[in-house]
Amino acid sequence: MDDINLVDHPFKREMAGRVGGAVHGFDHAYFDDPDALTGFRGYREDGNTAEGRRDFRAEALDVVAALRALPARPGPDVLDVGCAKGFLVQHLRSLSVDAWGCDVSEYAIGRAAPDVRPFLQVARIDQVDATYRVIHICGVMIYLTVGEIRAALGRFRDLGCEAIVSYEPTLERLQEWWDARDEGAFDPLRKQELPAATWDGLFHAAGWERASGCWVPRVTLPS
Ligand SMILES: C[S@@+](CC[C@H](N)C(=O)[O-])C[C@H]1O[C@@H](n2cnc3c(N)ncnc32)[C@H](O)[C@@H]1O
Repeated sequence: MDDINLVDHPFKREMAGRVGGAVHGFDHAYFDDPDALTGFRGYREDGNTAEGRRDFRAEALDVVAALRALPARPGPDVLDVGCAKGFLVQHLRSLSVDAWGCDVSEYAIGRAAPDVRPFLQVARIDQVDATYRVIHICGVMIYLTVGEIRAALGRFRDLGCEAIVSYEPTLERLQEWWDARDEGAFDPLRKQELPAATWDGLFHAAGWERASGCWVPRVTLPS
């Protein structure tokens, strides 16, 4: 499989032409510029201008469900990888979860609320080197190459993480959005547009299997 796997689509070609050569990182243009053609155009706790409303409380409760399904053990509960402004971490902490976050974006972390900021750090996914019982990762691995995804999923397993709660848009979903000419679904920073079966294969190859609402380490029975 190619390391970077982007799919051709007429709507993407049209959008690339409209965006031109303008390239940004995970900064103001990506999160909060109301006039940007790409990005969130205003990333807030109740949602964002590009995609609409969002319920971080409900997302936090899904993570709590995954955590509660595990046997009780000591250790930090949750790391939200790619936590942006820390909204999910804030909700998890309000639910008495020992939650932490990391994100590559100094811009986003710098705009986290003061009460959650001490629990967030500017760090890339490949710099995670401590054990958290649950890794939450939503909309972040699309910005990694296939090799980086493999490495991250393998490292979470090696570190002893007990569950991964993950959401990444599949190619099937993206194609629906592109066909509907949804501008919010054009993202020049994306490195992956992978079918659902390929995502599943990457998790499986790194030693994870599906459980209710999450991925858990696959137990290989002795033959
Ligand atoms: C689509 S946003 C999702 C933010 C948040 N997880 C959510 O669900 O709203 C992607 C986030 O991933 C972060 N990110 C991208 N590449 C990363 C990397 N290699 N390591 C850590 N964070 C990364 C970006 O800065 C951004 O905050």
